[in-house]
Amino acid sequence: MKIKKITAVYFSATGNTKKVVEALARQLKDNLELPLDIADITLPGAREKGRTFDADDLVVFGTPVYAGRVPNKLLPDLKKMFSGGGAAVIPVVTFGNRSFDDALMELKLLLEAAGFVPVGAAAVPARHAFTDQLAGDRPDIGDFQILSALADAVEVVLKFRKGEGKALRVEGHNPVGPYYVPKGEDGQPAKFLKAVPKTDRKKCDRCMLCAAHCPMGSIDLKNPAVISGVCIKCQACIRDCPQHAKSFDDPAFLSHVAMLEANYTQPAQIKTFV
Ligand SMILES: Cc1cc2nc3c(=O)[nH]c(=O)nc-3n(C[C@H](O)[C@H](O)[C@H](O)COP(=O)(O)O)c2cc1C
Ligand code: SF4
Ligand code: SF4
Repeated sequence: MKIKKITAVYFSATGNTKKVVEALARQLKDNLELPLDIADITLPGAREKGRTFDADDLVVFGTPVYAGRVPNKLLPDLKKMFSGGGAAVIPVVTFGNRSFDDALMELKLLLEAAGFVPVGAAAVPARHAFTDQLAGDRPDIGDFQILSALADAVEVVLKFRKGEGKALRVEGHNPVGPYYVPKGEDGQPAKFLKAVPKTDRKKCDRCMLCAAHCPMGSIDLKNPAVISGVCIKCQACIRDCPQHAKSFDDPAFLSHVAMLEANYTQPAQIKTFV
């Protein structure tokens, strides 16, 4: 079946996945001379309606890596929202320079189960949401060149594929392994599941941008210092606050960030698969 439309789908709390998925989708749009739709599913409202594709669609589908996997709070929505209908898909994960572990495999399997057909894939190092000291300058020009080469390779795959073709192989375990357990500076598990961002009331001018940007809809609309729902530590509220009024002060979280900064600054490799 000939592809007639490209769609970029992404969850992207701090903007890395958006940047990568849109760049790859735009390159494919130029190569194939096709229209491009953008489906940003970061905010809760955007995850309320389902999306159906079919065999003349090509979808670039991205999520960040959280604890070595697809963000677990996103899984129920991802599982029920999408119907692939034989659409070609490029699963993409961005990761903060530590490791993407089994996240790309998990995303590929999830999309296959929803009826998509993977034709390429990528795992891209990108600024760690927790600290600019890990991959602070990624994705860089070299990463975008590799993504451009992936777009060229996918174009060839689409041109010559017959029927289902051969299954795409990506890095990772199948079945996928356990979630990565964050460690502190002492090498012991750092337990910060219940941590939430704190708000400096002297700096906060109640602009409510943080509440508007929280992917879980968990910041109280009347009082931005109150976290009324689940917090996935995505850092959107911290990075997007114009007054720099928000931060995490949980000791276990800070110890994990210090451990990452001490051990994972060596640039990780971008990986692509066709
Ligand atoms: C809760 C959380 C867990 C993360 N876990 C990992 C991880 O296991 N490995 C890694 O390399 N980066 C990890 N990161 C970094 C993100 O994968 C990376 O910053 C990603 O590009 C963020 O995407 P976004 O900007 O689209 O939200 C984590 C970030 C968050 C917020
Ligand atoms: S974005 Fe910052 S300044 Fe605006 S309401 Fe939230 S904490 Fe306050
Ligand atoms: S409150 Fe938690 S989930 Fe919401 S934006 Fe802030 S870090 Fe992300």
